[in-house]
Amino acid sequence: MGSGKPAWDAATPSSLESRFFADDGLWRDAPLLTGQSSFDPLPDVRVIMVTGGEGFIASWLVRHLVAKYPEAYTVISFDKLDYCSSRHNSRMLEDRPNFHFVHGDVTCQTDVVDCLKRFKIDTIFHLAAHTHVDLSFGNSYAFTKNNVLGTHVLLESTIGVGTVTRFFHISTDEVYGEVDTEKGDLKEHSLLDPTNPYAATKAAAEMMVTAYARSFKIPAVVVRMNNVYGPHQFTNLLQRKMPLFIHGDGKHTRRFLYAGDAADAFDTILHRGELGQVYNVDSRDELSNFELAKKLLDTFGLTDTDTWIRWTRDRPFNDRRYAVDGTKLRKLGWVQRVSFEEGLAATVNWYSKFSGWWGPVDNTLLAPFPVLKGGHVVAPETSRKTEEHAAVGAQVDGGATLNRETACNGVEAGSKKRKVGLMA
Ligand SMILES: NC(=O)c1ccc[n+]([C@@H]2O[C@H](COP(=O)([O-])OP(=O)(O)OC[C@H]3O[C@@H](n4cnc5c(N)ncnc54)[C@H](O)[C@@H]3O)[C@@H](O)[C@H]2O)c1
Repeated sequence: MGSGKPAWDAATPSSLESRFFADDGLWRDAPLLTGQSSFDPLPDVRVIMVTGGEGFIASWLVRHLVAKYPEAYTVISFDKLDYCSSRHNSRMLEDRPNFHFVHGDVTCQTDVVDCLKRFKIDTIFHLAAHTHVDLSFGNSYAFTKNNVLGTHVLLESTIGVGTVTRFFHISTDEVYGEVDTEKGDLKEHSLLDPTNPYAATKAAAEMMVTAYARSFKIPAVVVRMNNVYGPHQFTNLLQRKMPLFIHGDGKHTRRFLYAGDAADAFDTILHRGELGQVYNVDSRDELSNFELAKKLLDTFGLTDTDTWIRWTRDRPFNDRRYAVDGTKLRKLGWVQRVSFEEGLAATVNWYSKFSGWWGPVDNTLLAPFPVLKGGHVVAPETSRKTEEHAAVGAQVDGGATLNRETACNGVEAGSKKRKVGLMA
């Protein structure tokens, strides 16, 4: 037997860097963004743990629950503060008695059990994950560790502590794999057929949840979501005067849901959903990557696609399209409220004011083709190269994307010279 560290330890990006705690006060000027729904509180829900609570989507849920249910629910944001999170996402809640941040790792049972016991958690929303699809092609062990082992540890800890009466596992439409245009939208019972390492880990995590629900009667619900976009996501870098990248032919489509609508979907499932069920969360706004790029350029008043769009090679495998049917959720009363135009305008407006939200990331997280090195997410080339090609007009010979769940959702992997795009 070799004496080295397990592969996934070597591949795990560092967290706990001081920049995640640094407080430059930017959040003080930021609006408190939430969804729009609210329900009569459930009497047996008191303390809700949201894993990954300092990331993009989970922070929308955290702010929503804290702001909409100040008397009824206490919300614990549990996060290891990985490379794409920001404490700014919840700092505006810190003077509220029903909010707490816990710095912890879901792969560490001690961290999880301590949190469950300390706060007597009765409800878990599990969103912590590695989500950057492009990183998953080259650093997949970290995805298995955080997404599969992390879910496993959370489930085991839930059984051990015994206080949790609702476990919501947040998954993705990517677990179904790609869906041909001539096929109908997929319902919740459709076969899971993931095609990239990220999606495979999300499907595997779901299997753990389903198995634990059967074996140990964990009161679980699985939620599979379309692409989510909005403020607080690492996205839309045009204001940094960087062109957008499109993988392949630009015809891949995705359906886009505003993050406030996603928060409403979670809120609806919490209050009206049935334990033991799976719910798709869908969107009516399906766009190709090229259409999305053009809409973004329009928003910035930019018309010259040759200057502002760079075409790159495709991912090793890139699902042409995802298509889920959210009828079951809509029957609970959820509606998609925010139109794509409205959501995009709100997103661009927010980023024009808060582009420094994640600190000085241009040469690391926003670098063209970030890689995991020595436990850190870094630019694969020297910062000299990054700067050399930072201005519009630099040549590009490889690829990035306009795609989704590129966690820190705007970071791309692919080429030697490059440029960064946007993500949604
Ligand atoms: N972004 C999308 O379009 C989308 C669509 C469908 C489903 N999802 C799912 O929603 C969830 C959130 O996605 P996101 O885009 O907001 O991701 P994100 O990358 O912005 O946030 C993930 C958060 O999880 C935290 N985290 C990662 N590993 C952890 C660990 N081991 N312990 C504790 N915290 C950890 C990170 O620090 C980060 O704050 C994920 O589970 C993802 O699979 C996302």
